[in-house]
Amino acid sequence: MAHAHQHQHQHQHGKLSAHAHDHTHASDSTPNGLPEILDLDAALFAPHLTALTGRIACLAGDDVRHVVDLGSGTGTGTFALLDQFPTARVTAVDSSPAMLERLASAARDRGLVDRVRTLEADAGAGLPGVVDADLVWASASLHHLDDPGTALAGIRAALRPGGLLAVAEVDGMPSFLPEDGEPGKLEARCRAALDGLHAQRLPHRGADWGSLLMTAGFSVEQERAEPWELRAPLPEGAGRYAFLVFERIRGSLDGRVGADDLAALDRLIGGGPEDVRHRGDLVVRSLRRTWMARPVEQGMKA
Ligand SMILES: C[S@@+](CC[C@H](N)C(=O)[O-])C[C@H]1O[C@@H](n2cnc3c(N)ncnc32)[C@H](O)[C@@H]1O
Repeated sequence: MAHAHQHQHQHQHGKLSAHAHDHTHASDSTPNGLPEILDLDAALFAPHLTALTGRIACLAGDDVRHVVDLGSGTGTGTFALLDQFPTARVTAVDSSPAMLERLASAARDRGLVDRVRTLEADAGAGLPGVVDADLVWASASLHHLDDPGTALAGIRAALRPGGLLAVAEVDGMPSFLPEDGEPGKLEARCRAALDGLHAQRLPHRGADWGSLLMTAGFSVEQERAEPWELRAPLPEGAGRYAFLVFERIRGSLDGRVGADDLAALDRLIGGGPEDVRHRGDLVVRSLRRTWMARPVEQGMKA
């Protein structure tokens, strides 16, 4: 692994941000559409997220002062946790400058700039300069990191003794079409083809994080799998969310599904009567797995 260097500087807006570049890590590869997808997911599933951060508060206690949002994206977890813990500040860590800029801009819009610090870093190589965190939140991010063992050791080093790690992972992008008809079957075929692609690119997607956490010296206090589902009447933004997800799926599937399926996918985003932005039969479904864990203190067994 190449030497990682760290420097800090003032943003033009005056907020301190830190950058730790590892030159072996690919440059910013944030795909188009993903930031809006993440923001729509946060807005549509806000009540589910509030229930989840409430469950975290039950384990972490009220006196949470420093939260780390690992692989923060546009700040779904950052803002939900700032809400849940009114005296906390968040260090939002991401390897994508574009994501962090969007998060910093949202923090300014919400008047939360004094409670948010952004840190550009490859979280797979550790969390440079981050110590004494009461809570680390890692949502849909751990599976992106090269080596889970090194990443979890970095999280351990960042947490104070007795601090809490909350891991959330999803089973891919949500699905939207009724499962019992041809549109749902098309969606299932496309997701299966995407799973094959992701298995090559993201080998830790779907990993058994409970075992990996224990191997890394954490004790797992809770493990859950919860279906998150939205049915009619759907909140505003659901059709747009479906459109963006199908657009991303379509962009990855050339040569991976048959020509008929590609044509059917095109119709789902083509502006005609089958377009997901106009359909009345959407159901937004996604399976969220969560693990709550604490570092085992030296000399004790997990
Ligand atoms: C699917 S998004 C999840 C964002 C956010 N946690 C959420 O739940 O909405 C994954 C995020 O992890 C970030 N990421 C990927 N690899 C990373 C790495 N090596 N270090 C830090 N962040 C990384 C991506 O830039 C992206 O913002």
